[in-house]
Amino acid sequence: MNQDILSILVNEEQIDAITTRIAAEIDRDYRASVEAGKKLLLLCILKGSVVFMGDLMKKITLPVEIDFMKVSSYGAGTASSGRVNILLDLHRRDLPDVDIIIIEDIIDSGRTLSYLIDYLKLKGANSVKTCTLLDKPERRDPALVGFHADYAGTTIPDEFVVGYGLDYNEQYRALPYVGILSPAVYTK
Ligand code: PRP
Repeated sequence: MNQDILSILVNEEQIDAITTRIAAEIDRDYRASVEAGKKLLLLCILKGSVVFMGDLMKKITLPVEIDFMKVSSYGAGTASSGRVNILLDLHRRDLPDVDIIIIEDIIDSGRTLSYLIDYLKLKGANSVKTCTLLDKPERRDPALVGFHADYAGTTIPDEFVVGYGLDYNEQYRALPYVGILSPAVYTK
């Protein structure tokens, strides 16, 4: 185990079981829509979701397209407005024929996902659903209590987690598991 990791929260076997389960749920839920001619788009929110999406997409048997958006919240002072900066947008003209599943590594306050759902619906997507590997309900914005992803891996406590895409100062994203970062790393 990496020396900066206090303990492993979600190990490789558990992640594998999660991606297998969610892929089966997506296959089940979108088969009719795909057969009716709609396109299924997995929309990865950079950067943390890259690893999760890479594993998940391999297990979905329906034909899927992939795309990417990059967003950042406006920062502490204005974050409660629920708005986010769009740093890389989704550009396509056929959104009325597209069912989007937004892929996230983690839901924290919930602001990013709730904003993106509204944004992509306004852009005209046929449907917008959400999928997250990790959920930290304790951190939810008071205005978003009760907000959950349509597909969710596992709920975690309010710990500083890294690995499997998640970073601290851009480090630890390549770890194959989700672990709790040793406080010594971010208090020094
Ligand atoms: C994280 C995560 C989500 C968002 C969740 O991204 O990947 O996009 O924050 O937080 P919220 O529920 O409070 O909106 P981050 O800004 O750390 O970017 P990164 O994925 O590039 O590391």
